[in-house]
Amino acid sequence: MTDDRTLVTTPADEPDVVLDVRDAVRHYALRRRSLRDPRRSVHAVDGVSVQLRSGRTLGIVGESGCGKSTLGRLITGLETPTAGTIRVGTNGTPAAAAFGSGTVQAVFQDPASALDPRMTVRESIGEALGKVGRDERERRTDEAIAAVGLTPDLGSRYPHELSGGQQQRVCIARAIVDEPELILLDEAVSSLDASLQAQILDLLQRLQRNTGTAYVFISHDLRAVRQVSHSVAVMYLGQVVEQAPAEAFDRGLLHPYAVALRSTEPRILDDGAEPIERIVLRGEPPSAVALPPGCRFAPRCPIVEDHCRRIAPDLVEAASGHLVRCHKPGDLTLSGIGRAGAGTPAEA
Ligand SMILES: Nc1ncnc2c1ncn2[C@@H]1O[C@H](COP(=O)(O)OP(=O)(O)OP(=O)(O)O)[C@@H](O)[C@H]1O
Ligand code: SF4
Ligand SMILES: [Mg+2]
Repeated sequence: MTDDRTLVTTPADEPDVVLDVRDAVRHYALRRRSLRDPRRSVHAVDGVSVQLRSGRTLGIVGESGCGKSTLGRLITGLETPTAGTIRVGTNGTPAAAAFGSGTVQAVFQDPASALDPRMTVRESIGEALGKVGRDERERRTDEAIAAVGLTPDLGSRYPHELSGGQQQRVCIARAIVDEPELILLDEAVSSLDASLQAQILDLLQRLQRNTGTAYVFISHDLRAVRQVSHSVAVMYLGQVVEQAPAEAFDRGLLHPYAVALRSTEPRILDDGAEPIERIVLRGEPPSAVALPPGCRFAPRCPIVEDHCRRIAPDLVEAASGHLVRCHKPGDLTLSGIGRAGAGTPAEA
């Protein structure tokens, strides 16, 4: 179920690795209605290994229920893994021990529920700093407010006096003020309209250039993920099925699910590029409780073959920084079925 072949990027002891996830598993046991019921569990995250260096962004994409947020909660130490190890920060602290230490911070989808309604903007941001003197708290709060593009007069306002975009900027200010090495962004722009999304994504990229903070950017919106990420992991039923440099998403994808996901994105290729055929997947994803034998994508795969249903593919390295879990990588492309002619993408 788990494999080591995903660890193809940086060795964990390199100084700038700020996230090292190895064979992470998170299963949730389901309650039995009677003692005769078999023990069953949801395989929310099922053998994920990823690494991330400072100053880089790892995007995680996939449809609802594939395990993105569960992986995010493991990374931030909000939950402990059923198996596997997760280390964060350049000193490689286990995620559970790093929780609340300031090494890793998180921004979630709903800023209104993330902010204490009784605290002003300044109080909220200042509270996220550890033990520091009053003057330093004031100074760093001012800096964080300016960094996220809020005007100083908003500092005395309460969350209900702010727009959704301003509230999310406050959440980002809270996340950056203590200078974490890693920030998890789980659907952080999903509730904002398109122009606000663009502003916040620009802001995140600018902050990263200035501070070197690494991001794990989770979204079901592949377009947003591609915009901010250096490398993107596509998840399906608790596993990574493809991980590739963001550039590979134009033509170099190899896994049928990743190709289908990409084909539903509005067309943004250069003029003259081949048309993209929208690949509509038939059927619902199988349940994360009763997993199919063999390849988990087989029940919906347009190019499935008999042996796919019997033998589960491993995640293997197709090119530097490009991993795929499929017996027929590249056989389904954005222009239809047939061998990919695009060659292999550049390193992450
Ligand atoms: N506490 C829990 N107890 C039982 N099952 C859970 C729990 N949390 C998550 N799950 C299940 O684990 C699977 C993965 O859920 P998760 O929230 O990680 O998905 P997601 O990819 O973030 O989905 P979405 O895009 O809808 O946010 C789902 O089948 C979900 O129902
Ligand atoms: S292994 Fe077979 S069923 Fe699975 S994604 Fe690849 S071609 Fe499709
Ligand atoms: Mg989620």
